[in-house]
Amino acid sequence: MTSPPSILMFDSGLGGLTVFREIVRARPDAQYFYLADDARFPYGRIPEHELIERVLGIVGNAIGTHKLDLAVIACNTASTLALAQLRARFKVPFIGTVPAIKPACAQSHSKMVSVLGTEATVAREYTMGLIREFAQGCDVKLVGSAWLAAFAEAELNGNPASDEAIAAELAPCFITDGARRTDTVALACTHYPLLGERLKKLAPWPVDWIDPAPAIARRVIDLTGKPSLQKGPPASITFTSGRTPSPQLAKALAEYGF
Ligand code: DGL
Repeated sequence: MTSPPSILMFDSGLGGLTVFREIVRARPDAQYFYLADDARFPYGRIPEHELIERVLGIVGNAIGTHKLDLAVIACNTASTLALAQLRARFKVPFIGTVPAIKPACAQSHSKMVSVLGTEATVAREYTMGLIREFAQGCDVKLVGSAWLAAFAEAELNGNPASDEAIAAELAPCFITDGARRTDTVALACTHYPLLGERLKKLAPWPVDWIDPAPAIARRVIDLTGKPSLQKGPPASITFTSGRTPSPQLAKALAEYGF
């Protein structure tokens, strides 16, 4: 591990920014390469065998191009499918992003927890395994959203989705059972915290929203150590589509330090 470290951030699009901003706070001295595979967005719609090949190929290229100390797969849809194979194929250490079922269930008082992710993530065997291991007596409702990731991309590009459209994606997370009701929602797609304020506003009642990004940033510190005082070089962002960000998106990216 070099110090300061050189870190790859990978997602299907801009959702990984929600993980990136926490990691930069923890290690402002590191060198960051953000890679968005927007040419194949959304990952939630890609058949499993195809997605594994895609992620191994793209991440493998990035590993060949940059001298990396760490790769963060800032995408639940990719991590729940390809993390084991990435670790088996490449020497660089990987940190994945997987549904935060353990902390969500540990903190729920009503014992009614919803996991909101892409349709692919909530259907994965990996996710079922987390529930078997960590549900801790909670009723866990899996909610696959077809549109929220795209709504988050649109929001950053200056085309926000309507309240009705977002509320419809959220509605299945909110369940009542006699005197009990859902009190915790795990955000199992890195795009969703981009819509954080709108999710809170449109929720039928207040709940705790679990965003795993701070925990991932702590894991980065565990693996790379404490930051030095020096600020790192400017982060770079690459889109596999080769697109040039619109002025609106460029402005949003500048706020993240690109
Ligand atoms: N950001 C991604 C995730 O955490 C996925 C969105 C998609 O490409 O479908 O699952």
